[in-house]
Amino acid sequence: MTPWGIRKRIKGALGRGATPGSADIVQHAVTYVLPDGTEHTIQAEEHYTLAMASQFLPSPIDTPCPDGQCGQCAVDILVDRGLEAASSGEVEVMQKWHKQAPGKKRLACHCRVGGPGAKVKVHRLFDFDAVKGE
Ligand code: FES
Repeated sequence: MTPWGIRKRIKGALGRGATPGSADIVQHAVTYVLPDGTEHTIQAEEHYTLAMASQFLPSPIDTPCPDGQCGQCAVDILVDRGLEAASSGEVEVMQKWHKQAPGKKRLACHCRVGGPGAKVKVHRLFDFDAVKGE
């Protein structure tokens, strides 16, 4: 969910169902293993990226670029159940920066949730303290 439910409000305004609290919002369980080893299972809205869904973690996955081209949001895929197939854009960025096709490693800002059961290991979380200058 985006802050203040903006995505759902836009969907509602466009007449595409999905108003806040409506029953047609499909969610799937995704488990994140954080850098400190703790595991968090959250309910991710269907078709959200792993990065978007990570906003429900204590700190979201660090996504340093605005356009999905830096390759720094890569996560290890521990269980790939429920993840949608990689887009051509994800394949291109993975080849450029990681010299491999999406598989055991995926880009959190590209990889979308399509069903339940995925489990991923996160390497970098957003550092709120760095932004605050502390
Ligand atoms: S944040 Fe840059 S590729 Fe995902």
